[in-house]
Amino acid sequence: MKRLFRYLLCVSLALYGAGLQAQILPKPASQQQAEGQFTVGKTLGVKTNVKGVEKTRLIAAIENGLQTQVTNGAELLLNLDKKFGKPSLTADKAGAGDAVYEGYELVVTPKKVTITARTGQGLFYGLQSLFQLQQNGTVPATKIVDEPRFRYRGLMLDCSRHFFGKDFIIRQIHEMAKYKLNRLHLHLTDAAAWRLEMDQYPELTKQTAFRMENDWTKWWVNRDRRYVPEGTPGAFGGYLTKNDVREILAVAADHYITILPEIEMPGHSEEVMTVYPELACGWAPVNEGTVQGPMVPNRHSDFCVGNEKTFEFIENVLKEVVDLFPSEYIHIGGDEAGKWAWKTCPHCQAKAKELGIVARPDASVEDQLQSYFIQRVEKIVEKLGRKMIGWDEILEGGLAENATVMSWRGEAGGIKTVKSGHHAVMTPGSYLYIDSYQDAPQYQLEAIGGYLPLERVYSYNPIPDSLTVAEASLIDGVQANLWTEYVKTPEHCEAMIWPRLLAVAEVGWTPQELRGSYPEFKERALTEVAKLEANGLHPFKLKYEFGNRREYYEPVKHLALGKKVTYHVPYSSSYVAAGESTLTDGLCGGWSYGDGRWQGFINKGRVDVTIDLEQPTDVHEVYAMFMQMPGPDIYHPAFIQIETSLDGVNYQELYQLDYPASKEEPYNFKYFGWKGDKSVKARYIRYKANCGKIGGFQFTDEIIVK
Ligand code: ACM
Ligand code: ZN
Repeated sequence: MKRLFRYLLCVSLALYGAGLQAQILPKPASQQQAEGQFTVGKTLGVKTNVKGVEKTRLIAAIENGLQTQVTNGAELLLNLDKKFGKPSLTADKAGAGDAVYEGYELVVTPKKVTITARTGQGLFYGLQSLFQLQQNGTVPATKIVDEPRFRYRGLMLDCSRHFFGKDFIIRQIHEMAKYKLNRLHLHLTDAAAWRLEMDQYPELTKQTAFRMENDWTKWWVNRDRRYVPEGTPGAFGGYLTKNDVREILAVAADHYITILPEIEMPGHSEEVMTVYPELACGWAPVNEGTVQGPMVPNRHSDFCVGNEKTFEFIENVLKEVVDLFPSEYIHIGGDEAGKWAWKTCPHCQAKAKELGIVARPDASVEDQLQSYFIQRVEKIVEKLGRKMIGWDEILEGGLAENATVMSWRGEAGGIKTVKSGHHAVMTPGSYLYIDSYQDAPQYQLEAIGGYLPLERVYSYNPIPDSLTVAEASLIDGVQANLWTEYVKTPEHCEAMIWPRLLAVAEVGWTPQELRGSYPEFKERALTEVAKLEANGLHPFKLKYEFGNRREYYEPVKHLALGKKVTYHVPYSSSYVAAGESTLTDGLCGGWSYGDGRWQGFINKGRVDVTIDLEQPTDVHEVYAMFMQMPGPDIYHPAFIQIETSLDGVNYQELYQLDYPASKEEPYNFKYFGWKGDKSVKARYIRYKANCGKIGGFQFTDEIIVK
């Protein structure tokens, strides 16, 4: 008994040691374990050549991170060494921007801890690794030499659709810094609200930052779409005052996080057009409301490009933004401009004429107007002493001279950007849009749709194979984007961010060849989730993760397997899945309509196909699974009809169903089809699923015949 106990103790100590070594997240570039351990006492002697504010900052971090009182002494050396480390690849090779030094060396012996770095930021990251290694007041002896793979490691938080204020943002900054994330991009303006106090344009927040309806479906999708003035009792919303921003910036600076402000233009700007209709095309006020009562977002989403007042407004706004935010870059949005009003607006069209713009094979007149707009805005940003970054639509019609691009519609925009010698940040939707569900949707709060579990985020490699080394060096890094249409509460918001942002931290920091297997990462993530919970945050409960739809893992065998499908109405060219073999390949879809197994239908009545079973066959079941996901406009069919034929000419109706399809029906999956007591003989089966009045997409993954 005794021997067994001792053996178990040794094994568990060994595992404990191994666990400690593996416990840093993001995993360091190199780590060696040594003998013994360092003990952190109630006080810790610290010696450093760091001075001033940065010294105060690092001492505060130590007292917090190790729960100890810092005194003078040589137990912990923080050594700023101007010769240490090499700059981030991007900075040097591209010759753009200042060199960035974030690396550090951490040496822990039983007697002392030494952290060496070229910058305070490097020392800060060395400290974060030390904090993660520490357990119950001891730190295992080790040597770590570490630096990030990418200089940009971030999160975008949409503060417009739902408001997330100062305290929430500060709480995330505290946690982000622990994982060596260094950018927080705040999407401050959009149709749903302008969320940044403006001295020159106070009406923007006074009139658009509040609404009575908090639920996105009711407010936006079902077109309530009214703002109420600040001070209206019971209203939801808010905005960041300049003092709030100053507080956020101070905390961010202490945590080496850059706040990247985004002011959206030329599209997604209905809230601006509501308050200042003269900035929209045609200069036509279309408000139903008045400043005393509720206002309705202007139906124009875009600034008028032909109106000089547009550029005056933008310059004034950006001047206030750069006066407030020290970020080297200013994000100007640029995505999803509708451009439709530009086509007929006399001012926009006159501007196009004046500029000599004519339609080109690669760019319409409106694309080129967008390019003109973005290039003018870049000049404003540069005049204000900053650099411009925008979503990948800013490539359309020609990229502004010094712009950096955030690639969100997949990686194509990022690839095009770096191939033209510009910098890019990768934020592709299918890996980094954390507004998608991270687990089985029926067990999650409503999200916009899709399925992006932690494993998928972790699998991302930001350097596409098609890039040369020089091109790859222009990929600055990665960012997860959290749009908040369906994120109403701080708790939900935290669950969407964490733990997926942990995967982003490791994708952005750790050399690709050192990234562990997903199960190994998940073990570390579980530990960090527990810490986040202990700190009062509300991460997704990873240990109870359900995983993908069971059917996804279990191919179905049935009579139509591998049989030819004829489409009487084509499937959507955007959601082709496996093309014509999709509906009879035996493979079922998962939680996401974008996983390559769900075929989308948007044309005519929607699904209308015939399956050829090749010979007369006894059939007693015909059914197909459909997905209902209201966020992205995916609905169940309103009408089903199944017919059979022996000769392919004469058909008999087998089944029909009127289904009360509704936009209100929550996310679910349903089989639609026929099951008979007796079989029928059929060679051809025609399956129709009609959308009726509801419209939207239909998605199905397999037509199962038994
Ligand atoms: C975006 O998701 N519209 C950038
Ligand atoms: Zn116009």
